[in-house]
Amino acid sequence: MTNPPPVHEAAHRRDWPSYFDRMQGKPPRDTVLKAIDLFGEIDPSNPLHVVDLGCGDGRDSVPLLNAGWTVWAQDGSEDGIARTRARPEIQAALENNRIQINHANFEGLQVPKADLVNASFSLPFCPPDHFQALWTQIDAAIAPGGRFSGQIFGDRDDWAIIEDRSHFTRDETLKLFDQYILESFIEEDRPSRQSESMHKHWHMFHIVARKRVTAS
Ligand SMILES: C[S@@+](CC[C@H](N)C(=O)[O-])C[C@H]1O[C@@H](n2cnc3c(N)ncnc32)[C@H](O)[C@@H]1O
Repeated sequence: MTNPPPVHEAAHRRDWPSYFDRMQGKPPRDTVLKAIDLFGEIDPSNPLHVVDLGCGDGRDSVPLLNAGWTVWAQDGSEDGIARTRARPEIQAALENNRIQINHANFEGLQVPKADLVNASFSLPFCPPDHFQALWTQIDAAIAPGGRFSGQIFGDRDDWAIIEDRSHFTRDETLKLFDQYILESFIEEDRPSRQSESMHKHWHMFHIVARKRVTAS
């Protein structure tokens, strides 16, 4: 019997329906959970706002809603947006106007103001000639004292040679966050756990960072 292809193979091909099928039931990303934790309990009379960029099938939007956030979720995949909408927690939040779901690409995106911008495993899929504009939008959207959570993919990752992917060296990544305090910065630089025939080298930075209140 042959093993099914690893889930990263679907992401490699941008086959998002297969990716979501394979990721179904997975817990929220550690970076978003860390950010939720760092903000602490939310006063319901003063809700906090999060932008969930490349929200996929809504995996991270749900714990944010459960923690009392209002959510502006965005993804370029029609299938991802449909799966996000179909989640019971999201349907309830749509009825209460606690979530806005946007089917939109990163290219040309206007990012609204937020206390947190979460981008889990999505920014590497922004084409490089659009990354700087997107990053400028992200940085401008985050309020002083607000946070970013998510991943930047590194230059030693196997996908760094793919033309439409955005990858950065460690120094370039740190430069993106030079006006932020790094609350968690974990570099992963390792071979995949699959067999040799399904090998991928992963290089990524898992980041939770707080925007400085005054520029240094
Ligand atoms: C690896 S998935 C991550 C999904 C989810 N955030 C998670 O952590 O499971 C990458 C997501 O980025 C979205 N994406 C890829 N390229 C995009 C683009 N150019 N514009 C908007 N979304 C895009 C995909 O549709 C997909 O949902």
